[in-house]
Amino acid sequence: MARGNRSMGGCESLGGGRIRRAAWVIGAVILLALVATALWLWGRTSANEGVSVVMQSAVDGEDQACAAEGGGREEIVYHSRKNDRMEIALSFDDGPHPRYTPEILSILAEYGVRATFFMVGENVGYYPDAATAVLEAGHEIGNHTFSHHRLRKMTADEIREEILACEDAISSVAEYRPRFVRPPEGCMNDGLRQAAAELDYRIVLWDIDTLDWAHTPPAAIAQHILDEVEAGDIILMHDFIGHNSPTPEALRLVIPALIERGYRLVTVGELIDGDESGVRVSDGDETGGKRG
Ligand code: NI
Repeated sequence: MARGNRSMGGCESLGGGRIRRAAWVIGAVILLALVATALWLWGRTSANEGVSVVMQSAVDGEDQACAAEGGGREEIVYHSRKNDRMEIALSFDDGPHPRYTPEILSILAEYGVRATFFMVGENVGYYPDAATAVLEAGHEIGNHTFSHHRLRKMTADEIREEILACEDAISSVAEYRPRFVRPPEGCMNDGLRQAAAELDYRIVLWDIDTLDWAHTPPAAIAQHILDEVEAGDIILMHDFIGHNSPTPEALRLVIPALIERGYRLVTVGELIDGDESGVRVSDGDETGGKRG
């Protein structure tokens, strides 16, 4: 662009020279536009290949890029690419919640399906019974940090503390150690990758954000899932939403429709590892895996 500016600014010649210069400038602009368009299209294709990630906190502009700027995507699980089993995973974040977690559990039980609950350590401390009910019903628990702060500006040490404090909260109510961590709002940084690797966690994001956290009407949530879902997908929902959560009603609509389409609803662990237990109970204790 610097060269283009210089030739535009220099008015030392007239006639044919000016026309040739103008033609050169127009040609350069067209070329740049073509290159920019090609790059834009390439970027869109790449993003789609890596699975589109819609931010949970779309209202906060600063967070829009959280999940997208992760890079190093190979170590981050968005969904299973093994689509031949027609499996998908429902995941519920931010709980446990004294009302909605049990309500969601009873709906899942009604259809005989399992799911993964990414719990916030602080809420496990407040509602331990809801946390243990999740395990007793055979579901999987994931680590959603202790205090649900955005991790993006935290160091690896600080993130490690957040993950471990959540782990402590969970292990204080059950003999259970999660093996998946989902960063609040999908915010990634290198510190999270480092902490997750050191603590033997896999980072799990999602394919479909149901926007239930924004009180999207149940029918719209169900329709969005049915429009978007593909085998192998991880679906983001929440069991902790202030008041009037649309999530239970959305589940009543969407679960039978998904089953009707031939999908099996499994835990994240089962989806990505084919692991029936989907859990790891205490370090080195394999026998407890049966409870999952
Ligand atoms: Ni969350």
